[in-house]
Amino acid sequence: MNQHLKMDRPQDDVIGTMAQGVIGTAAPRRDGPVKVTGQARYAAETGTGAEAVGVLVRATITKGRVTGMDSDAVRAMPGVLSVITDKRLLRNPAQGTANAAPVQDPGQVAYFGQPIALVVAETFEQARHAAQGLKVRYAAEEAVTDPFADTTEVERPEAKQTEQGDLDAAMTAAEFSVDSTYTTPAQNSAAMEPHASVAEWDGDRLTLHGSYQMVKYNRNELADSLGIDPANVRIRAPYVGGGFGSKLGIAPEAVAAAIAARDLGRAVRVVMSRPQVFEATMRRSGTRQRVRLAADADGRLTGIGHEARVSNLPDEAFSEPVTMATHFLYAGKNRKYAHEIARVHRTCAGSMRAPGEAVGMLALENAMDELAHAAGIDPVELRLRNIPDVHPENGKDYSSRRFADCLRDGAARFGWSARNPKPGQVRDGEWFIGMGVASAARGNILQESQARVILHADATATVETDMTDIGTGTYTILAQIAAEMLGLPLDSVSVRLGDTDFPPAAGSGGSWGAGSAGSAVFLACQKLRQSLADMLDTDPSELTLRDGTVTSSNTQQSLADLLSEDLTTIGHIEPGETSETMQHAGFGAHFAEVAVNAVTGESRVRRMLGVFSAGRILNEQTARSQCHGGMIFGIGAALTEDMVHDHRDGHIVNHNLAEYHIPVNLDIPQLDVVFLEERDAWANPLQSKGVGELGISGAGAAITNAIYNATGVRVRDYPATLDRVLPGLPDD
Ligand code: MOS
Repeated sequence: MNQHLKMDRPQDDVIGTMAQGVIGTAAPRRDGPVKVTGQARYAAETGTGAEAVGVLVRATITKGRVTGMDSDAVRAMPGVLSVITDKRLLRNPAQGTANAAPVQDPGQVAYFGQPIALVVAETFEQARHAAQGLKVRYAAEEAVTDPFADTTEVERPEAKQTEQGDLDAAMTAAEFSVDSTYTTPAQNSAAMEPHASVAEWDGDRLTLHGSYQMVKYNRNELADSLGIDPANVRIRAPYVGGGFGSKLGIAPEAVAAAIAARDLGRAVRVVMSRPQVFEATMRRSGTRQRVRLAADADGRLTGIGHEARVSNLPDEAFSEPVTMATHFLYAGKNRKYAHEIARVHRTCAGSMRAPGEAVGMLALENAMDELAHAAGIDPVELRLRNIPDVHPENGKDYSSRRFADCLRDGAARFGWSARNPKPGQVRDGEWFIGMGVASAARGNILQESQARVILHADATATVETDMTDIGTGTYTILAQIAAEMLGLPLDSVSVRLGDTDFPPAAGSGGSWGAGSAGSAVFLACQKLRQSLADMLDTDPSELTLRDGTVTSSNTQQSLADLLSEDLTTIGHIEPGETSETMQHAGFGAHFAEVAVNAVTGESRVRRMLGVFSAGRILNEQTARSQCHGGMIFGIGAALTEDMVHDHRDGHIVNHNLAEYHIPVNLDIPQLDVVFLEERDAWANPLQSKGVGELGISGAGAAITNAIYNATGVRVRDYPATLDRVLPGLPDD
């Protein structure tokens, strides 16, 4: 008994006709109590404690071959059970949707810190001690590590070098123009929970308790890495302490734990240290971006150019899609894009929260601010003047877009009219004060998803799907959707997630989790409503379900009385034509007030507002929390986060949270988030859009634009650390 929907047409608002009234409410996270009381078991905490413990050994060369290891000496050390030197350990982390780990020359080291062996012992201390003692011999080769050196080999994929009209001519003819180059550094997702796996085998069947975002893909990646049938792999990830992209695909600890557990015939736990997370999982690529803007006398764009260089390991398919938002955000007839991938021997580059928009909009939105000043037009007004009627490159309509309302509403709420457009004018003691604005935009995606919903005879329900909750609120919103559709109190719905034994969902990635997995739950419940209607010989639209009571025309009874057995359905959503025919994105506007210290050049964000339109908001509290998180990432990108590579060997210098500075505590001021009322019938049957990445997109540029307004210092190299601000400050 299944319900399937392919999104070929816009969908009516069914949720809006329901009676329970829990969708959209600020329901608190139902996983909260088990997390704060320590009852939620994260991957590293799985098992009985009798597991053997593995510690990864990493390469101390940048490129070359492992020619030998003195593993016998280490095997003789106290507590050591095994030294695993399997060449499969050398596979790079997977990207999460690839279904396969990249094939690599076995034995070949491609970056400094790459896992090359696993030492397994009775205790963590014994394993770590022995791992440090393992002597490895290498045949090292010359390695290229600088993405921006003239000699570095660069790929230019043809599909990403595009041009429409004549940008050079537009630049020449422009009344006002900007031609600026920006850089953004490498970053780390820095999820609170490090990557961890506990592997156990039962004959040919592997169960891996891991910290992963997309288990249906992770299962295939792991099977592929091990050379086994995916049907023999089960992955469990009921609680995940943040991912932000770093857990989209499997990391080396999962493969190592699985190989060791098979070898030893015993469960093995491998937990990455923080430096290992930095060096051996995934980085966000650093970028260099040239942005050109051409405008007429009214500030209307006649041309946009966005040319970027990013980096990754040789042969890796992923490259940071920098210009994503530039394609659809602003008007302008003449457009040019270029995309270069520098092939360097640094830690694998992959997706981190809003790959593309997060870094691309740091440059684009900074350039828009430069244009506003060049043209003497208010930066909010400049953006409003350049909102296109339809997608400026392919002519598609926007599925929903309250972009202009976000800018206007945000400006009014923030008190934008009080901003002095002339930089360096406002002082508060030794602080320069300024305000900045930036647009927010992030593509919205629907992915195939399935979910099982069981309506029990006692009028409770259970939702089961392999969808994950990575701290985003999935447990809570899926319960809300089922409760709304089935007319049950929220407490009567239980949700089970993160297990490949459940129906496969989209996983947590690309901000598609809520809309995709949520739609699968919605569809399953729609079918259940049909079943109830059939029992009463009526139409589902005649049913009112509320608090466990069924009302239809002139009868009313309790759901528990009506049901004589459990009803089970699977809902199945698939993207369809609406993905092709419309341009899908969430939109918004960021406003920041910043204080820059006149003595030290230190920047502090004083307050920030994000106004967003993201379709139906499923849970006011968890959605707002997602946007808070994105804006905090924006503060980090603007002011502090910079993963530094040593140019000699490409190793990561600041591989810990003491020296890689994410914003904490007082780095984060009052953050206000406002959602405008919106429905998107083209997105999915919930009419919702993703919020996980919208909040980061553009956020950092609002801050650097505020620094410019405060001081007249234009920071084009992120982050705006004090050494980059201080030299340009006006004299007192
Ligand atoms: Mo995301 S960067 O798709 O977790």
